[in-house]
Amino acid sequence: MSEVLCGDAAEVLKTLPQGSANMCVTSPPYYGLRDYGEENQIGVEQTPQEYIERLVEVFAEVYRVLTDDGTLWLNIGDMYANRTWETVKQKDLMGIPWALAFALRERGWYLRSDIIWHKTNALPEAVKDRPTRCYEHIFLLSKSPKYYYDYKAIQEPIKEVTAARYTRGRSGEAKYSETKMSQGIDRKTDAVTEEKRQYKRKRDVWEVSTNTFRMDEHFAMFPERLIEPCILAGSRPGDTVLDPFFGSGTTGAVAKRFGREYIGIDLNPRYLEKAEMRIAQVIPEKPYGNAADLSDGMTVGGGTI
Ligand SMILES: C[S@@+](CC[C@H](N)C(=O)[O-])C[C@H]1O[C@@H](n2cnc3c(N)ncnc32)[C@H](O)[C@@H]1O
Repeated sequence: MSEVLCGDAAEVLKTLPQGSANMCVTSPPYYGLRDYGEENQIGVEQTPQEYIERLVEVFAEVYRVLTDDGTLWLNIGDMYANRTWETVKQKDLMGIPWALAFALRERGWYLRSDIIWHKTNALPEAVKDRPTRCYEHIFLLSKSPKYYYDYKAIQEPIKEVTAARYTRGRSGEAKYSETKMSQGIDRKTDAVTEEKRQYKRKRDVWEVSTNTFRMDEHFAMFPERLIEPCILAGSRPGDTVLDPFFGSGTTGAVAKRFGREYIGIDLNPRYLEKAEMRIAQVIPEKPYGNAADLSDGMTVGGGTI
């Protein structure tokens, strides 16, 4: 059953039973960027280390709450230091995403993918001594080496030119294909299954524009398109998707659209109220997702890397 819960993520998560969610997709507050005006908010710690420690504490609870085959899809961006700390000088790129990813790996999570969210409409920056930033990370982490990941639900149609090459033969030389065909053995067709001729596995750079509207001027919502593949690959219809930094409820909206349940947590009761109103407007889509008809659901891992 879907629910939204108000309070500090780590504290609220402690009240949830083990195994009550199948996956988690979330974007924690940035470090030192926004003041959400709430006591206990994450992102306003004295040092980047303290910020990382608080997030590690939250994700330790997420680990407990997830089913053993569950995954965490963690969206986080980097930032530049606006002052000097012990280990970071003013102007340094802070390396927050990787510091967090390594800390989570040390605590037992399997770090499975670093997906790059390329923001196709990234805003210009005033700086003239480095390239303009236009990406964030989505780390895919799993609780076990074997976990639920439905690659078929998010595979993509291949380009016509590639499909034509498969039909002609991998070498692209008509002569070769003709020889095989004339022998009555279409080895290329045997080797490349129907599915492979139409689809390719999803890659780890995702081109998605940022939202052009905001629910609140202080607010960094992630785009629905960004988390659609996470939810489609990481859960089955009827599963429960967790987001401990729910904000405007993007996770709930996409989960409901794809026939999943959700648990959303946020410190700010006003955001949760708006999130619930937003989700109430969502009509579940059937079939759930573009390639859902091809999916049979699968648990992978263990053995292959
Ligand atoms: C980057 S926003 C999440 C946006 C969300 N992904 C969306 O699409 O709307 C981070 C959220 O974390 C919440 N937050 C900050 N500290 C928190 C804490 N300790 N526990 C729970 N939520 C917290 C903020 O209120 C804010 O809504």
